[in-house]
Amino acid sequence: MTSVAGADAVVLVGGKGTRLRPLTLSAPKPMLPTAGVPFLSHLLSRIRDAGLTHVVLGTSYQAEVFESHFGDGSAFGLDIEYVVEEEPLDTGGAIRNVADRLRADDVVVFNGDILSGADLGALVATHRDSGADVTLHLHRVSDPARFGCVPTDTDGRVTAFLEKTPDPPTDQINAGCYVFRRSVLEEIPAGRPVSVERETFPGLLERERHVHGFVDDSYWLDVGTPEAFVRGSADLVRGHAPTSARPAPPGQVVALNGASVAAGAAVTGGSTVGGGCVIEAGARVEGSVLFDGACVASDAVVERSVLGAGARVGAGAVLRGVVVGDGASVGARCELLDGVRVWPGAELADSAIRFSSDA
Ligand code: GTP
Repeated sequence: MTSVAGADAVVLVGGKGTRLRPLTLSAPKPMLPTAGVPFLSHLLSRIRDAGLTHVVLGTSYQAEVFESHFGDGSAFGLDIEYVVEEEPLDTGGAIRNVADRLRADDVVVFNGDILSGADLGALVATHRDSGADVTLHLHRVSDPARFGCVPTDTDGRVTAFLEKTPDPPTDQINAGCYVFRRSVLEEIPAGRPVSVERETFPGLLERERHVHGFVDDSYWLDVGTPEAFVRGSADLVRGHAPTSARPAPPGQVVALNGASVAAGAAVTGGSTVGGGCVIEAGARVEGSVLFDGACVASDAVVERSVLGAGARVGAGAVLRGVVVGDGASVGARCELLDGVRVWPGAELADSAIRFSSDA
């Protein structure tokens, strides 16, 4: 990656993460354990590896937990400051709210829930070379109809911000990372909620300001939904997604200290097994995330699922694409399939919920 000198980094971490409930009831999305460390650690490792050192976190929901974990950032080779919004200010308001902490002319803003391999040095160089007011990282996707899209002209200037449509004119989408010229950031109205995507960027185009696109095809994933969260975690574990914060070399599993995996159990597909977890003989765990203290009893199957802290899965149960909240218990032989969310502390009796009728 090309090094970036003399720019500030701002990371937006204040969202409530509603699509990841119930996991985000006990921790904000960027603090959820992912490949053995808080998700945000992976993004901060990329920021540091790119040569950015001054980082401002824009916090709101459960603001205090970020500083408790990352402190002043020195242990991570960074200089981290925290700005708390009493009332959430949305993305643009959150960016404006950190303005008095900025030191440089170029400000690289990151959504705190994106995994990306984009070359940050090249992004900032494109911004500087083009003399743009704002430069957006644009990612090419194979299914652009699922997203709003951002067309550019032959010089790379953004021409529009288009809502989702069945027949989008480009495959470029807003990848949730922007370089602002600081004076342009200061033009965002202060003290009220502002959406950077719906208000700030379209407003800049209306005023004929220079909004530039930096298009690339590197790894990119928004981990905002349970399916994407487990996929992102598995990609980090297996080394498909870029990070230097993974606590173990790339492989099929990250198992933290104190995890116990029985000899006859199979744990594969980029799974993470948290500290104090127990996986009994005959169990199969694939592409899943087990927070600390989760237990999977004998012969159970857990695929593409997240088990919250201290959650328990009974013998012979089958979970595919499921989220189990902290301390919840899924009884033996239950069968839970795609999209099910078990709330924290809930207790499902043995065989209580099944999809097949052969129990
Ligand atoms: P959902 O509720 O599931 O949509 O998740 P979210 O609350 O994280 O919203 P979204 O994914 O749209 O947010 C994108 C990024 O902006 C995330 O990194 C959020 O933490 C951040 N964000 C969203 N709203 C705010 C806000 O009001 N203040 C701050 N500081 N950050 C925000």
